[in-house]
Amino acid sequence: MSISEPSQTDSPSPFISDAERPKLATSIRDLQKHYVLKSEVVRALRGVSFDVPEGDYVAIMGPSGSGKSTLLNLLGCLDKPTSGSLLLGNDDIALMTDNELAEIRSRRIGFVFQSYNLIQQLTVVENIQVPLYYQGAMGSKQHRRSVELAQRVGLGDRLDHRPSQLSGGQQQRVAIARSLVNDPYFVLADEPTGNLDSVTTEEILTIFDELNDEGRTIILVTHEDDVAERAKRVVRLKDGKLHRDDVNSPAVRQAARETQRETVAQLVKEANL
Ligand SMILES: Nc1ncnc2c1ncn2[C@@H]1O[C@H](COP(=O)(O)OP(=O)(O)OP(=O)(O)O)[C@@H](O)[C@H]1O
Ligand SMILES: [Mg+2]
Repeated sequence: MSISEPSQTDSPSPFISDAERPKLATSIRDLQKHYVLKSEVVRALRGVSFDVPEGDYVAIMGPSGSGKSTLLNLLGCLDKPTSGSLLLGNDDIALMTDNELAEIRSRRIGFVFQSYNLIQQLTVVENIQVPLYYQGAMGSKQHRRSVELAQRVGLGDRLDHRPSQLSGGQQQRVAIARSLVNDPYFVLADEPTGNLDSVTTEEILTIFDELNDEGRTIILVTHEDDVAERAKRVVRLKDGKLHRDDVNSPAVRQAARETQRETVAQLVKEANL
């Protein structure tokens, strides 16, 4: 367990070559976000700094109003910081125009929202294809990829269903498949299990485990300790500042997986009685 010390990463060791240094999915320095509401200024982020190496799996926690969604929205290029720097790979998104941000968002970022944000008139496959539509890529190859992703998240038999014909967990799986359709640089998820029961939560977390095992960087916001324990690392915000930055040991992650599986097995057993 360690509190992060951004200053260490500010001046990398001269004894580590560039090739050996882990590549960063994102690097944040003194990030601030202020919202101006008439005469009032809400300082949602007040100088946050940390790095996320490629392949990391980070849970962001903290009390309501501490700035978690604000931070995720900035990482997802949905909004621009007031000050500070935010690198995605080598690109500083703080310096980009709205069009450049939209371009990065559609090509490199997969975003999963708590409320799924599916389009009700579209089928499962069509919803998964939506980010490609914004890229102007809608051929048969893209259709095949969307079907494959639907199958991957266990919806191969629901391809033509509309969101209202799906359970909450199934809708969230569509949202995860949609977030993967552009083969994103990293996957960001804001309370992806916040509305789901424990059986469905386990299914969704298993998908995130697999995505991370494939090497994708994952950053998710959660209020739940047992969800955060599945991540490699837990970043806690408080009052718009970084409060703690802790690593979950492999033993903690494994224990969280086992506890959740036992809970699910017990619930399934009770439901069958
Ligand atoms: N668009 C906005 N305009 C004005 N203030 C905002 C806006 N979005 C967020 N805020 C304010 O910024 C602060 C941080 O909000 P944020 O949504 O990031 O919190 P959070 O940690 O995600 O909370 P929760 O756990 O409730 O989702 C809050 O005080 C909130 O009221
Ligand atoms: Mg939030």
